[in-house]
This record gives sequence, structure tokens and C-alpha cells, in this order.
Amino acid sequence: MSKKFYITTPIYYPSVKLTIGNSYTTILCDAIARFHRMLGYDVFFLTGTDEHGQKISKVAKERGKTEIEHLNEIVDDTKKLWASLNISYDKFIRTTDELHVSAVKKIFNKLYEKGEIYKTHYTGKYCVPCESFWSEGQLIDGKCPDCGREVIDSNEECYNFKLSKYTDKIRDLYKNNPEFLQPQNRVNEMLNNFLNEGLKDLCVSRKSVKWGIPVDFDSDHTIYVWIDALTNYISALGYSSDDDSDFKKFWPADVHVVGKEIVRFHSIIWPAILMALDLPLPKTIFGHGWLLFNNDKLSKSKESGSKEVIDPRILIENYGSDSIRNFLIGEVNFGSDGPYTQESFLLSYNNNLANTVGNVASRTLGMAEKYSDGIIYEAEKLSELDQKFKNDVISLKQKSIEEIKNLKPTNSYNHALEILQKCNLYIDETKPWELYKEGKTSEINTFLNLLCQAQLEAYTLLIAFLPEKVPQVFEKFGVEIPKIIDENNSFNILKAGTKVNKGENLFNRLDIAKENEKLINIAKSI
Ligand code: MSP
Repeated sequence: MSKKFYITTPIYYPSVKLTIGNSYTTILCDAIARFHRMLGYDVFFLTGTDEHGQKISKVAKERGKTEIEHLNEIVDDTKKLWASLNISYDKFIRTTDELHVSAVKKIFNKLYEKGEIYKTHYTGKYCVPCESFWSEGQLIDGKCPDCGREVIDSNEECYNFKLSKYTDKIRDLYKNNPEFLQPQNRVNEMLNNFLNEGLKDLCVSRKSVKWGIPVDFDSDHTIYVWIDALTNYISALGYSSDDDSDFKKFWPADVHVVGKEIVRFHSIIWPAILMALDLPLPKTIFGHGWLLFNNDKLSKSKESGSKEVIDPRILIENYGSDSIRNFLIGEVNFGSDGPYTQESFLLSYNNNLANTVGNVASRTLGMAEKYSDGIIYEAEKLSELDQKFKNDVISLKQKSIEEIKNLKPTNSYNHALEILQKCNLYIDETKPWELYKEGKTSEINTFLNLLCQAQLEAYTLLIAFLPEKVPQVFEKFGVEIPKIIDENNSFNILKAGTKVNKGENLFNRLDIAKENEKLINIAKSI
């Protein structure tokens, strides 16, 4: 039986603006999902949209549309963007889907029947953009501690979930399962900011919000958007429906990947709800950092006022979708914040894509054409240098695989690139042009064979990270696009006697100053 791997992104608020910031989670999840498929896992990769709540009604109204008209348009745009970024999701869930709505109602009823939810009155503060409740004491300068915006007074009858009784259980969960909440610093954030002072019961219905899922037994109330949203992770698998085979197969999730600002919903409220429902808990919540733009998060909660191009569609049009994936995966260490500038984006394109991914293959294939008419022969006797090169490549391959399993895609990607950098070094050290002059055919054959095999190992690892261009490289080497990464065997992707063909470069070097100016002009014009 194959190993299963269930990975999720948060479901997105259908906002009108799409930025590279809010593509971050999805791109990283996609790379992790693709890599796991190539390691032979049966992967279920879920994404979708979070479509209820006050904010949606407000935006729809501002646009002169009904909620569902507005949503359909945005969902369409979102799906188009994911397609152009090569996002390989297995399911796209919308919280307006009938099956989801029915699952949320059932869960709410069940929690009520079990005495986990009770009717009361809420008086406190509410942040509409974040859909979060806050007490006076939690505000910073009277504003929302998450996004810094104005909060509103909320004073209404509501249903509360008995979150307070889970304080110790959640602490124990963190203590006994260090893999539950990652990276480790997120645990301290949760303990210091919420758990140490004890959890408060959570208001889980709204009387004043009409655009939401109604409480089955009290239709004056709609269900709090975060309860609605979190449920997507199981409703998407058919939980509580006639066909719950995916739920049986894939739950519990292997990892919910989320931005750091929503870790508390996933690592406190979600496990408490699952405990209340007697359901297994996800294995890992991974709270990644933010892509920062002028030290600010490009996202739902703040205006950026930027002069730089942050619309992924424009970057894709100019540099292809791998350019964005390369930057977000390779330059922002997964788990930490990382700055974005146009210049660093272009520099990274040149370093990683043009000079490394593109250049090594053309250099190698050019040499193969020159030194052996494009035919790659069997490797013969390995010199010390050859053997060391081979060992280094195998060790980097293993590290790349290991790191993706440890949820470290940035390291995994960089190890795969290191293989290609090692290839460049191996060429410089072997000096094949001298071997050629001296007529050392056997050494040339060994050299070309090892060099091609090493690159094919690297390109196989890179498919998950750069799925637009990297698959095209295999044809040049005369081999099929690999479907799996062979963890136990290396240096045997290419069969001796294969003819290679240099063809076009995968990525060409950019003139940074020129491109930067072009982007500044585009940014000014939009
Ligand atoms: N709807 C909720 C999630 C509910 S999940 C049950 C939500 N949506 S969101 O659209 O605001 O954010 C979706 C994801 O985009 C989050 O993981 C968020 O952290 C991520 N990002 C938005 N801007 C970002 C950056 N600038 N950098 C990295 N990720 C960012 O929250």
C-alpha cells in the first residue's frame, strides 16, 4: 500500500487584489506536494476559498454585485492564477459548496448536542478584516493586534464554544508532540500570547452577520467564519457525507501550512474543535513567515503603496511562472520572514535559473556535441575526482529528499541547485578540453556520462520546484520525464548510447538594470 500525504493551504479570502505575497503558501505547498508525489506518496493537496463573513458582503456591495456574483468572479481569477503558477491541487473547495455547508451545520449541531457550545452574550471588540474577536486588553493602541486596523464594538447574543476547557490539553499537545506545531518558535508565541493566561471561551456565532452559514436550530445566527473555514479541511474529504472514503483514507492531515498570523486559529481553535468532536488531530501545523515588502506584509490587512510590481500575473508574463517559484522557494527561508525587492527577484533569476539551471545543461550538452557527437557512452574507470564528484552528488540528492520530508523546501531546493553548481566545478576541475586535445576518449566518456547523470538527478529533484521549464530539459538528454525520484539508485537515468541535443537554453540571462527599469515603469503605469 502506498504512503499517503495530505497537505493543505489555508483557504483564501477572495480579495480583488492578487499579489505574490498571497501566492506564497500555495506555491510552497505545491512544491512539497509535487515532491511527495515523486517520492511515491499518494498525495491529496487541498486549496480553496473562504467565502463567508462580513468582509465579503462589504466588498461585494462596494463593487455593486451580489455576494455570489463577486465570489464567482474572484474564484475564477484565483483558479486562473493557480493554473498559470502550475499549482497541482487535487481539490479546490469553496465554503459556499453545498457539501461543505452541510458538514459545517452538522459539526455545529454535534458540538451543541455534546454540550461544547452554549448560548450567551458577547461584549467585546471585533476586527472585520481579520474576522477576529479581541478583548480590550489584547488591543494594541486600541487597534487590532494582528493587522493594526480599527476594531468595532460587538455586543450581541451569541453561541460560545467552551475553548477555555482545552487550555491544558493544548499545552500537553505541544509538550508531548513537538512535531505538532512547527517551527518551534511558533510554540512559544502561542504559549506566551494565548495559552499562558488561559484560553477564553470563543464566540462561534454572529447575529449581525447575514452572509454566513445559518445555525440549523437557531436561524437568527450564522456560524462564525473561522469555524466554517477550518472545517474545510475535513469537509473537502467528504466528512459526514454519504461518501467519506477520502476522509477515511487521508485524515488526519500530514500538514496544514499556514501563515504565521493565522497559526493561533490552526494550533489552538482547530485542535480544540477536533478534540471536542473526538476526531484525530492533524500531524503538523506549519506556520511560515511573511514575504515582506518595504518591511511590510503584502496582504489582506494593509495597503502597501508600492512602486514595485507585486502582481504575479505581470511577473509571469515577463519572466515565466518558475521565476516566482524560484524566488519564493529559494530566497525566503520557509518558516522565516524574507524581504522582496524587484532587484533581488531579478538577481535570483540570473543566479539560480540562468546561471545554474539553464547554463549547466547547455554547457554540458554543447561539450557532448563537440567531444562525442552528442552520444553519451558508458562510464569507464572512475578517477578519484570522478568518484568524489559522484559521492557528493548522491549525498546532496539524499539531503534534498531528507529536507523536503522535514518540511524544509528552501533547503531541499538549494541542495538540488548545489548539484548543478557541483557540475560546473567538476567541468572546471576535469578540464575536458585538455582531455579532448590529448585524445583521452575513455576519460571523456566517463566525464560526460557522470556529468549528464548528475544533472539528470538534479533536474528530477527540480521538477517539483520549477514545473514549467525543467520538464523540458529531459528531451535534450534523450530521456523521458521521470515520474518518480528513485531514492535508492542514482546515476542511471540515462542509458549508455543515448544521443543528446543541445537545443535552446531553458533560461537566458537578464540585464538586471534594464529589467528593473522596465518593471518600475510598469508599476508606475498601474
Ligand atoms: N481565509 C483565511 C484562512 C482560513 S484557513 C481555514 C486567510 N486567508 S488569506 O487570504 O488572508 O491568507 C491566505 C494565506 O496567504 C495565509 O497563509 C497568509 O499568511 C498568506 N499570505 C498573505 N500575504 C502573505 C505574505 N506577504 N507573505 C506570505 N504569506 C502571506 O487568512
